[in-house]
Amino acid sequence: MEFRRINGLPPYAFAVIDGLKREARAAGRDVVDLGFGNPDLPSPEVAVDKLAEAAHNFRNHRYSASRGIPKLRLAAASLYERRFGVAVDPDTEIVATIGAKEGFSHLMWVLLASGDAVLVPSPSYPIHIYAPLFAGADVRQVRLDPENEDGTGGGEGFFAGLMESWESTWPKPRVIVLSFPHNPTTTCVDLAWMERLVSFAREHEVILVHDFAYADLAFDGYVPPSILQVPGAKEVSVEFYTLTKSFSMAGWRMAFMVGNAEIVAALTKLKSYLDYGVFQPIQIAAIVAMNEASEYPKWVAKTYQGRRDALCDGLNRIGWRVEPPKGTMFVWAPIPEPYREMGSLEFAKFLVSEADVACSPGVGFGPGGDHHVRFALIENEQRTQQAVRQIRRALPKLG
Ligand SMILES: Cc1ncc(COP(=O)(O)O)c(C=O)c1O
Repeated sequence: MEFRRINGLPPYAFAVIDGLKREARAAGRDVVDLGFGNPDLPSPEVAVDKLAEAAHNFRNHRYSASRGIPKLRLAAASLYERRFGVAVDPDTEIVATIGAKEGFSHLMWVLLASGDAVLVPSPSYPIHIYAPLFAGADVRQVRLDPENEDGTGGGEGFFAGLMESWESTWPKPRVIVLSFPHNPTTTCVDLAWMERLVSFAREHEVILVHDFAYADLAFDGYVPPSILQVPGAKEVSVEFYTLTKSFSMAGWRMAFMVGNAEIVAALTKLKSYLDYGVFQPIQIAAIVAMNEASEYPKWVAKTYQGRRDALCDGLNRIGWRVEPPKGTMFVWAPIPEPYREMGSLEFAKFLVSEADVACSPGVGFGPGGDHHVRFALIENEQRTQQAVRQIRRALPKLG
């Protein structure tokens, strides 16, 4: 049978590793899983309790509001005020989404159509590339390399790449996709970086879409900026904030798009045709999470930081040089020199079968990722240390 849109999709590189992991586990081997970025920490207990209580109220069993019930949008507005010092109107500048991924994907439908150009970082969280493609857009990938010692790469290199792509693209891009702290490269930027880009976007009338999935997952005192902290950003930007990582509520599917009122209205309109909103008890529990567990993200970040240290210290000790990230829940590790020729997929397959450690091959995030693998910090410190010991045994050529 012939299908539309999905035909060009490459086989999910991550599925290959996942398959090997399952096979190894079925054979009784203890695989340490640092593959998929699926948070293992529990959601806040107050939210779980509230969900149970609200689910018992039959009035919550009906269709809910696609854009989110008013108190939910109010709680998100309070969070923005408290966390980022940004005032947003809960009626016109916030729409609830079924996770950031759903919101981002449908946003692309209202911003882009066939022939419209969009600039997207590469490597990238896959939906940042595929959602614009599903919308029919012409996707221009802009290299986002880890920061080098000589100051190239990182946010600076990406900024320069954006400017170059802007110059060479015709028709001019309608949208620039951003996401910092960045999955998978863990690149972080500061507010001054955001200011430069907002100023460029205002001058050139391009829309900035910032996926802020790792808003709260930052380490060593680094505080990731919201793009909306930039004065005037609302003229040209929207931002996704999700409870998935900050509150460890991945399965609940609760996020928001915040920012430019016209864009919020456009997505709200599309979504009013597509869905009836997240199950209302989840919306009610999300309100409680944001209002009553506002310190929870700090505990989540601290836990990931401990795991980051266990992994980075361990890998560096065994001769695999990695930079500890300032944010996200990942370590973006360059494949060690003696193994680099294998490419990331073969190397990741080798790690599952020889070290019983699952990770994500960098090529799954775009061709620019093939010199790296991504470790997700989703196992506790002991298991993470165990992974390092297993890697050391499997990679005798490490220096
Ligand atoms: C950059 C980025 N955006 C969005 C998501 C998913 O967010 P949500 O669960 O809210 O759809 C992830 C999850 O890994 C991510 O890394």
